[in-house]
Amino acid sequence: MGVAVKLDGVERNYGQVKALSPTFQTLEPGTFTALVGPSGCGKSTLLDILAGLNTGYQGRVLVDGKEHKGPRRETGVIFQEAAVLPWRTVLDNAAFALETQKVPVGERREIAENVLRRVGLSDFAGHYPHQLSGGMRQRVAIARVLSTNPDLILADEPFGALDEQTRVVLGLELLRVVRQTNATVLFVTHSIQEAVLLSDRVLVMSARPGKILLDLPVDLPADRDPAMVGSPVATGLIEKIWAQLRSEAERALVEQGAKR
Ligand SMILES: Nc1ncnc2c1ncn2[C@@H]1O[C@H](COP(=O)(O)OP(=O)(O)O)[C@@H](O)[C@H]1O
Ligand SMILES: [Mg+2]
Repeated sequence: MGVAVKLDGVERNYGQVKALSPTFQTLEPGTFTALVGPSGCGKSTLLDILAGLNTGYQGRVLVDGKEHKGPRRETGVIFQEAAVLPWRTVLDNAAFALETQKVPVGERREIAENVLRRVGLSDFAGHYPHQLSGGMRQRVAIARVLSTNPDLILADEPFGALDEQTRVVLGLELLRVVRQTNATVLFVTHSIQEAVLLSDRVLVMSARPGKILLDLPVDLPADRDPAMVGSPVATGLIEKIWAQLRSEAERALVEQGAKR
């Protein structure tokens, strides 16, 4: 079951640079939330704080009501560069996290085979990463994360390096597999369409220091398909998000000009 995550006044400065304004936000258990915002606005900072990889922040992160700081075993993280080990086969990559958790070899194999099936890679279990496409490597990274049965999945522009079609296919696949596990998901993307197509809510951040300006529920059927981005609900949301981001970009340009 997914966890509830609450950001209670979470704020991050890097010296004089204010990266993230005090943020108050809840992620409901089992929901898929997308986070969009201008480049450099603090999206990765926010995600890394939740992942326990960035600890120099103010405020509190609550997981199921209890303050948590630092990495958690039950949190899975997916980055843009597929985290795969080139000298290991697909199966051994999928089993890697279980190995570090000292899960017995037989059980490890069974779980790894199962997650590879779920991401459509069963036929490639014996392949090495260099024999795969970028999209397939990212599937391996997703399989590895799923293998530990996370209750919180944090993804930072996971499909940013992939072509448009692969991106849509993988996004919908990720959505399908995480729905089965009921994990809570925070998904950072620079694609507004992807955000709307995949999520239950879209959070829109301001230019740095990042602040959540909009929190929009996505009222599309649970069973998503690529054509839904053209639906009236989706296009309405996309327009609204664009309008907000456009005014953010303009504000950032004006501020930069004023500093010169
Ligand atoms: N370790 C760091 N040290 C100093 N500044 C940083 C560090 N990490 C990020 N920043 C700055 O914080 C701001 C937000 O960065 P980031 O969270 O990576 O943005 P995003 O993911 O939205 O593009 C940027 O201005 C960036 O330069
Ligand atoms: Mg980033």
